[in-house]
Amino acid sequence: MPAHNTPDPHAEALARTAAEAFRTVYGEEPEGVWAAPGRVNLIGEHTDYNDGFVMPFALPFYAAAAASKSETWEFHSTYDGGSTVRSGRLDGPAVQRVDGWAAYLAGVAWALGESGYPVGPVRIALYSDVPHGAGLSSSAALECAALIALADLYGHEIDRAEAARIAQLAENEYVGAPTGVLDQSASLLCSEGNVMFMDCRDLSREQVPFDLGPEGLTMLVVDTRAPHRHADGEYGARRADCEEAARLLGVSHLRDAPADATLADDRLNRRMRHVLSENERVQATVSILKGGNVSGIGDLLTASHVSLRDDYEVSSVELDSAVDAALGAGALGARMTGGGFGGSAIALVRVEDAPKVETAVLEAAAKADLPEPRIFTARAAAGAHRVL
Ligand code: GLA
Repeated sequence: MPAHNTPDPHAEALARTAAEAFRTVYGEEPEGVWAAPGRVNLIGEHTDYNDGFVMPFALPFYAAAAASKSETWEFHSTYDGGSTVRSGRLDGPAVQRVDGWAAYLAGVAWALGESGYPVGPVRIALYSDVPHGAGLSSSAALECAALIALADLYGHEIDRAEAARIAQLAENEYVGAPTGVLDQSASLLCSEGNVMFMDCRDLSREQVPFDLGPEGLTMLVVDTRAPHRHADGEYGARRADCEEAARLLGVSHLRDAPADATLADDRLNRRMRHVLSENERVQATVSILKGGNVSGIGDLLTASHVSLRDDYEVSSVELDSAVDAALGAGALGARMTGGGFGGSAIALVRVEDAPKVETAVLEAAAKADLPEPRIFTARAAAGAHRVL
């Protein structure tokens, strides 16, 4: 699979760490090292499985996979600067069903085979600095790094959009999480300096320049460090609501619901209202960004949060605290990002206001006795690529 991005020095550093781990564990050089990033979604939340619009960008956090073809499956992973090391062995040359993080590796191997791209065993050493449980797609990063490594090692040229569908298949059918295609597409298809506008119906997409510097802006990511509560069950329940609403309206996906549609059931009506209004907000965001006016998207980000909080009911006390505190301290816009029920929020702020916003977010969390958030500045990084 060809690289779509210029190399990222941080990805190279992680790749060297993964290669070093490979040498230590297996006593030989890896055939190559591949890296895939986590993401934030600028706007377009819970729209992907409704055939709607999304707008993610890749973060400069990566899962790096050092790998070689082998006779048997062997895997090793290191996370969080080496604090956790796990090793294991899949029994024999065939991929066996496994649980835990290795399911991502085994899952993409399985999904590649299902999709007509059979792969054999590999030795692999994974090293990731994508924060876990932060709603920043650490699992998609693992899947995508493993997928491009396996595809390259076994000589398959796979279109990146198809690869995203294959990684989603692994997540849905093998890992067992009923997600849409947002995270895997972001990891595989985003490019440096851009936010990707994508139509999840056909994965057609456009890279929109996302340059905050000229307007004196920056984007903060607030990892609330809150545990994901009921995330899987509630996520599935939202999908089921959307499917039911679409069925009642006689459309295949909520994306096709008429703008003036109403449903008798209040809950389903609110779910639908979120999806339709969010799709409109994404399109409005694209045209404002193309007009070269990043600060103009602030109100859309905040409106997205309100809709997710009130109509879709996927926010949390920690996310609301971060968003409200950021806005109160002068952020131009703020919202939860990703699936919700914990995880991260983003805030668009003027550079000179960033310290004030950070302090306000930390103080609000402390006052409400919430976990201390971790705050960092986002930049639009390179998508998945072979590094070494
Ligand atoms: C999670 C899922 C995605 C998407 C988002 C919400 O990140 O993995 O497919 O549905 O939630 O936009």
